[in-house]
Amino acid sequence: MSWQDDAGRDLVRSFGDRMAMFVRGEGAYVWDADGKRYLDFLAGIAVNSLGHAHPAFVEAITRQASTLSHVSNYFATPPQLELASRLKRLAGTGPDGRVYFGNSGAEANEAAFKLARLHGGPGRPRILSLKDAFHGRTMGTLALTGKPWMQEPFLPMVGGVEFIDTTIEALDAALDDGVAALFLEPIKGEAGVIDLPEGYLRAARELTERHGALLIVDEIQTGAGRTGEWFAFQHAGITPDAITVAKGIGGGFPIGALITFGAAGDLFYPGTHGSTFGGNPLGTAVAGAVLAEIERGGLVDNAAERGTQLREAIVRLDSTLVSGCRGQGLLIGVALRHPVAKAVVAAALEHGLVINAPNDDTIRLVPALTIGDVEIDEFLQLFAAALHTVEDALVLDAPSEVSA
Ligand SMILES: Cc1ncc(COP(=O)(O)O)c(C=O)c1O
Repeated sequence: MSWQDDAGRDLVRSFGDRMAMFVRGEGAYVWDADGKRYLDFLAGIAVNSLGHAHPAFVEAITRQASTLSHVSNYFATPPQLELASRLKRLAGTGPDGRVYFGNSGAEANEAAFKLARLHGGPGRPRILSLKDAFHGRTMGTLALTGKPWMQEPFLPMVGGVEFIDTTIEALDAALDDGVAALFLEPIKGEAGVIDLPEGYLRAARELTERHGALLIVDEIQTGAGRTGEWFAFQHAGITPDAITVAKGIGGGFPIGALITFGAAGDLFYPGTHGSTFGGNPLGTAVAGAVLAEIERGGLVDNAAERGTQLREAIVRLDSTLVSGCRGQGLLIGVALRHPVAKAVVAAALEHGLVINAPNDDTIRLVPALTIGDVEIDEFLQLFAAALHTVEDALVLDAPSEVSA
């Protein structure tokens, strides 16, 4: 029996076939069960901020596991309070910011959804979200996710959510004093690394403020320095009412958080929300160490610089497939001229490169924030090889110009 047989028999089928079986990682590399080495430019979907098995991650998890792993939220622990304070500082909440800890992105957004309901009450039942947005797979966060095909098998949805086009005009038209909150991703990652229109975040802040609605920014994919600021909303110089974070914050340890700004943080009161594991000392110690290492290593600036370097090199590649790049920092969407992204991902894997296709004509690159010249040079070689493999196949498949 192969591992493919085991996976096919024992795992639920909500994910497609696993593409490889990885057994070990170090830095920007992972190894499969046959000892083949891969350059990892997916990083667990924007999770492994420090790469694999980083000494700071390993040291924190080992130290904390041998000290105190879990006590429940009846009690405080030093790593939890230190992480809350660090997140407030990095997000720039000021003293009245507050943090709720969960264990995933979906849990952070569930908390944000409940925050929106507490704010809205019966008088403000409407919640706005963007078409094509992705906010998670639980019933609450699926209701916020603007992809009808994902919702369809699970109807009816949790009510009250309306999806709008991603234009300032559509937002202006939809907002009124019956709206509790607007949810948005600063860059729509799962939709294909789609940037917001110029000025959108500033307009969203102005308009939500005018109507008394909360502005809730989902930084689950964009946060932890990935876009070249600690959080992507900071590029726009605005102050949201809340942000949600997960993925890169824990660097591989499952953790998520809702961070509030100003009065929004006072909406929760005892009994309104909770999680057994959320904010436990193990997860918060690891996330604290990951964020400390991102700060110490200047990795937010590295994400900005390496992002620019990669983008410039990708559009110069000798390839007829690439039409341009979207995104910011080390959240990069490579736009393809043909809907062959899945074939490029498969070819890349053959060549020893892990990347991903959020849709048919986009390749998403979200490597560790630690990458440098060596990884970038190797990436460019492997990516070009994968593109050429697919280009050659396209040429072979193209109908002959001289037909009988
Ligand atoms: C923007 C965004 N929000 C929410 C989520 C859900 O996070 P999780 O898979 O940790 O529940 C994701 C995951 O891809 C995401 O990219």
